[in-house]
Amino acid sequence: MAQEEEFRVLSVRYEKRSFADQEIIGSINRTFRGKLMLEPSGDDLRIYLREIDLEEFERYVESAVREFNYGRDNIFYSVLEKIRSVRSYGIRAGTRIYAGYDRERKVVNRKEKARRRHIHYYAEGSSFSRKSNELPPEYMDRIVCGDSEEVLRNFPDNSVDLVFTSPPYNFGLEYSDTQDDVDWNEYFDKLFRVLSECIRVLKYGGRIVIDIQPLFSDYIPAHHIVSNFFMKKKMIWRNEILWEKNNYNCKYTAWGSWNSPSSPYMKYTWEFLEVFSKGDIRKPSENRASDLTGEEFKRWVYARWSIAPERNMDQFGHPAMFPEELAMRVIRLFSFRGDVVLDPFNGAGTTTKVAKMYGRHYVGIDISAKYCEIAERRIREIPELGQEEGN
Ligand SMILES: C[S@@+](CC[C@H](N)C(=O)[O-])C[C@H]1O[C@@H](n2cnc3c(N)ncnc32)[C@H](O)[C@@H]1O
Repeated sequence: MAQEEEFRVLSVRYEKRSFADQEIIGSINRTFRGKLMLEPSGDDLRIYLREIDLEEFERYVESAVREFNYGRDNIFYSVLEKIRSVRSYGIRAGTRIYAGYDRERKVVNRKEKARRRHIHYYAEGSSFSRKSNELPPEYMDRIVCGDSEEVLRNFPDNSVDLVFTSPPYNFGLEYSDTQDDVDWNEYFDKLFRVLSECIRVLKYGGRIVIDIQPLFSDYIPAHHIVSNFFMKKKMIWRNEILWEKNNYNCKYTAWGSWNSPSSPYMKYTWEFLEVFSKGDIRKPSENRASDLTGEEFKRWVYARWSIAPERNMDQFGHPAMFPEELAMRVIRLFSFRGDVVLDPFNGAGTTTKVAKMYGRHYVGIDISAKYCEIAERRIREIPELGQEEGN
């Protein structure tokens, strides 16, 4: 009998046994000695798992099964399935480590050490007030047309729970009312004035999630520049989510440098979402409910979200929308039902539509009257079920 603490122990139902099974089990146990062991126990087959090169094991099982002319329904495929379903393991040189891998990483006195290091030291000494204020009715559940820097000046401090936005990226896109190719200094000055207002109107414990893309061809790491700005403002940088768009429509090299180290052009199929907290990582619920299921929570806290880009931009006449699925995950992971969600660059209103659908209050600002009309129409067109959720 194997020492259980040295192995991850799994089991599969094993009622129909055969003599040939015994031979295969014996040969697996000899071949993978010390790494994996199979042992019949009552009506189960126990799998003692320490470490395995899964591909090698799959090849071994395939060839054993072929040799004994087994069909698809056999105990060894059940063993493989079971091992494949294990989601937590370490990896060393291509081998999956199932036992003791987290012991290696274990930090003794973790809390004390974190205190000594001064976690989020850059946010120390902030003077954010904890007192929340009501957003006035003229902004609550409204689409506001105007320059967000000016509109936000009228909001009280600490009056929204979540800001989710994607600012114009300065890539040279054709927006209806703004130029998207201004000098970078001018661009960041303006963006930072709007984001400063966002920090001011955010409640203590509230979050700002900003979808921001570097302009690689200009060598401008906008996501780093923006993160640095927030950290200087004493906001806590809490996460970076990688929005994997899986769009491989990217060029390969700078002109004239194909197949050469002279200037390889790296390909990015993703965008970055930078997430910040004001004052505290924890957000008080103020007796509001979460609407996350356990399954969603488990999937979404993995910070790589594979979501297809918005495909209906033509229909809305906007060149740079994000998809509803992205807004839905951000809103439900970072706010409670009944919270107030702000998008200061609301465009065709994806954030405000999704906020309404999921029972949040919303306020969306955009400088373009055309986009504001579209955003309002999208809210009006939310199907009945969504409206009920929002009430
Ligand atoms: C990347 S788009 C946002 C798209 C939005 N996420 C969506 O899904 O529809 C940026 C938006 O910012 C707006 N904008 C640019 N400058 C602005 C300003 N100073 N105040 C308000 N909106 C502005 C543009 O009109 C544009 O619609």
